[in-house]
Amino acid sequence: MLTEAMIPIHDTDAVWGAWRARSNALSRTPQGFAERLSACLDLGVSWIDHADIYDDGAVENLHGEALTHLDGEQARRLRVISKCGVRFESPGQPGVRIAHYRSSADFITAQAEASLKRLRGERIDLYLLHRPDYLMAVEETARALEALVSSGKVASVGISNFSTHQLAGLTETLDLPLTAHQIELSVLANQALDSGVLEQARSLKAAILAWSPLAGGALFAEDRPVNVVLAHLAEREETDMASIALAWLRRIPGPVIPVLGTMSVERLQQQIEGLRRISLDEQDWYEILQAARGARVP
Ligand SMILES: NC(=O)c1ccc[n+]([C@@H]2O[C@H](COP(=O)([O-])OP(=O)(O)OC[C@H]3O[C@@H](n4cnc5c(N)ncnc54)[C@H](OP(=O)(O)O)[C@@H]3O)[C@@H](O)[C@H]2O)c1
Repeated sequence: MLTEAMIPIHDTDAVWGAWRARSNALSRTPQGFAERLSACLDLGVSWIDHADIYDDGAVENLHGEALTHLDGEQARRLRVISKCGVRFESPGQPGVRIAHYRSSADFITAQAEASLKRLRGERIDLYLLHRPDYLMAVEETARALEALVSSGKVASVGISNFSTHQLAGLTETLDLPLTAHQIELSVLANQALDSGVLEQARSLKAAILAWSPLAGGALFAEDRPVNVVLAHLAEREETDMASIALAWLRRIPGPVIPVLGTMSVERLQQQIEGLRRISLDEQDWYEILQAARGARVP
């Protein structure tokens, strides 16, 4: 029998993203964070998205501290994603004077080990290069990722925010499958539909993880023509706009897996229930796209 502990990233309905955890009073304590982890597991979502840069590592640390509020069985069911490669001026990154990307072997290895320490884990289940480094020495980066997998510190690797050409450059050299490509994708940020990244990920059998699937909340911040369409469909489906926007993402072949960023357990429940239940037909889907783009498809 397939248990949640075994759900591969390709088969999960959603990932929970921890980026905003310390900006929200409900989730910024170990107890509050643990309640969200527990809610995710109860909802059948075991994949949790992190990065070394989220509050200078403090979000990963919060996850590690929260484990003491879970029982051992819950902790074992969690699957962790982390990322490395982005540098910017902040107290936790001494010596950095300008935003840049880094992909040297030493750096990637050290960041993975530091993330594991903060997360109080033995293994990162999916490790992503957060951004494409224009200065990447591809052979060196590939060998570093392979060594992390051989050592057992990382179970699988992927990328985030790469173009099709950047991804092809890495796969030519990397002696491992890329398990996932995490990209920005939502009703409002829909450029990936035309860039070729979705088709490329599908042909590589890499899961497509959609970050900011509700445009980071911008979908609700102002009235746009697309909101009228979302609200109309939400009424028809007896749900809310967020669930329709997520159902729109899930309708894209892939599958496309949203990385949900809400810190509200109620919203998390509603969004996961909605994306499992609601199925949009082609005309619903194109109506949303056309309203979002402000133009008919040609
Ligand atoms: N790879 C990358 O480069 C990259 C970049 C950005 C993010 N990420 C990952 O993607 C994850 C998700 O990103 P995100 O947080 O931007 O996701 P999101 O789900 O698009 O946005 C979450 C935000 O929307 C708000 N929201 C959700 N439902 C709402 C509703 N019904 N009404 C009003 N506001 C609502 C949430 O507030 P509440 O908490 O109050 O519900 C929260 O502030 C992050 O945690 C991170 O793991 C990756």
